[in-house]
Amino acid sequence: MHLLIPAAGSGRRMGSQRNKLLLTLLGKPLLSWTLAAAEASGHITWIGIMGQPEDFPDFQVILGDLSLAKPVKLIQGGATRQESVYNGLQALPLNADRVLIHDGARCLATPELFDRAADALLSCPGLIVAVPVKDTIKVVDEHRIVRQTPERSNLWAAQTPQGFEVKLLKKCHEEGREKGWEVTDDAALFEKCGLPVTIVEGEETNLKVTTPVDLALAEFILRQRRDRSK
Ligand code: C5P
Repeated sequence: MHLLIPAAGSGRRMGSQRNKLLLTLLGKPLLSWTLAAAEASGHITWIGIMGQPEDFPDFQVILGDLSLAKPVKLIQGGATRQESVYNGLQALPLNADRVLIHDGARCLATPELFDRAADALLSCPGLIVAVPVKDTIKVVDEHRIVRQTPERSNLWAAQTPQGFEVKLLKKCHEEGREKGWEVTDDAALFEKCGLPVTIVEGEETNLKVTTPVDLALAEFILRQRRDRSK
């Protein structure tokens, strides 16, 4: 199974001048943790990383330190996550028929999660890993007035990895570009094209490191994992 890692973002919401994936957690860059989990997954055979060219020297250092057994390709990212994934899809080897897409910023995803998603992708055209929402979610208008309270039992928080048949996802991305759809995950393009997206059980600890609080939480979780495995 092929894996694409969008890693071409910035550190804006983190309050950092550089790509947040280069910040360190327990002494190792965020991206390094993500890659180590992908390397340990039994299903993943090829890894593509979408990044901004100015980060490639740092990515090369990370790859050199990890010395992964799996082939890795660096791919130029775009101005948005959507564009970065589009570029990644074009750079997949011709024999790639199914692909997992996993945000580099979700550096706590376990190898078991990758394997669960990869297994499930053998029997459906598209999937996301997700967890049930714990908070009550409000739909709010531009004046910050609550307009709606959706039934919580129907709400799931989408994570990555997300997985798709390559041919179908490429078509959805092309249609999205033609019609000017702007989305924050690939499943949204699949949905807009009327294709089914299956839910696979995610992990509560699979947080997306976005703000300094996430960084502190991620470090706490990784330290616990390290201490447990001693
Ligand atoms: O900014 P956010 O954390 O939502 O981005 C999700 C993922 O998409 C991150 O791993 C980030 O590096 C990636 N991304 C990208 N290209 C962009 C913007 C974000 O690959 N232009």
